[in-house]
Amino acid sequence: MVYDMSEINSLTILGGVNKDGADEPIRSVEITRGEIVGIVGPTGSGKSTLIDDIEQLAQKDTPTDRTILVNGEIPDSSIRVDPRRKLVAQLSQNMHFLADMTVEEFLSMHARSRGKEASLVTKVIELANDLTGEPIAPHYHLTALSGGQSRSLMTADIAVISDSPVVLIDEVENAGIKKQAALRLLAGEGKIVVVVTHDPVLALMSSRRIVIRNGGMIDIITTSMQEQDVCSRISDVDNWLMSLRETIRRGDVVEGTV
Ligand SMILES: Nc1ncnc2c1ncn2[C@@H]1O[C@H](COP(=O)(O)OP(=O)(O)O)[C@@H](O)[C@H]1O
Ligand SMILES: [Mg+2]
Repeated sequence: MVYDMSEINSLTILGGVNKDGADEPIRSVEITRGEIVGIVGPTGSGKSTLIDDIEQLAQKDTPTDRTILVNGEIPDSSIRVDPRRKLVAQLSQNMHFLADMTVEEFLSMHARSRGKEASLVTKVIELANDLTGEPIAPHYHLTALSGGQSRSLMTADIAVISDSPVVLIDEVENAGIKKQAALRLLAGEGKIVVVVTHDPVLALMSSRRIVIRNGGMIDIITTSMQEQDVCSRISDVDNWLMSLRETIRRGDVVEGTV
């Protein structure tokens, strides 16, 4: 059985063990369509490990002994293998491009490999340009893109071409990109997004955040109204900073924006 977007209603993480082999306090977390969930905790606590469990759809076969259910059931193993119907897309931490192709060549290749139409290439570039202040053209070489341009391009690529119902983001550097717009784009309509981050904008955009300590899920915090308010305030400051950076990059003078 293969899943497409409309068939994924929920993911459930069933608790396993922490680093000491003791049961983790949170025994079950159900994440439903359209939800953004954060993962927080100190370095080395096990955040990436939880992301990996979801990516692999762990079935008590990883060091944490966790189980991941899809729609409340044990998923069919075939969904782990077909790249065209891949359930999970992960926004990678190190976006080093291996081959030096143009933006257009790269996106066309990716679209083909996913069995998607070539017309999506233009859409990806348009969306990427909404997320970064430095415009990307189809003929640009991947290796010459700035950090902000590559992150915007990868984000739009995952949203449009990978288009998987579950999106995982592990502490991705997000300088030079409109964070809130990027996360909204990735979340799309009805996706499940799990994001490891300590960036206040991203963490507070999630509806809940799982707290990890010593390899185990110890708490789940629901984002309060007050936190949502803080989130939109920091986001405004963030976007303002980004526009000031663009003004300065263009060689213009910062006036009338203060
Ligand atoms: N529940 C667990 N049981 C055993 N080892 C774990 C568990 N959770 C995490 N680890 C181990 O702890 C180390 C740090 O975990 P990691 O997920 O990289 O932390 P973080 O992403 O929070 O910095 C890794 O070697 C990982 O394998
Ligand atoms: Mg990590």
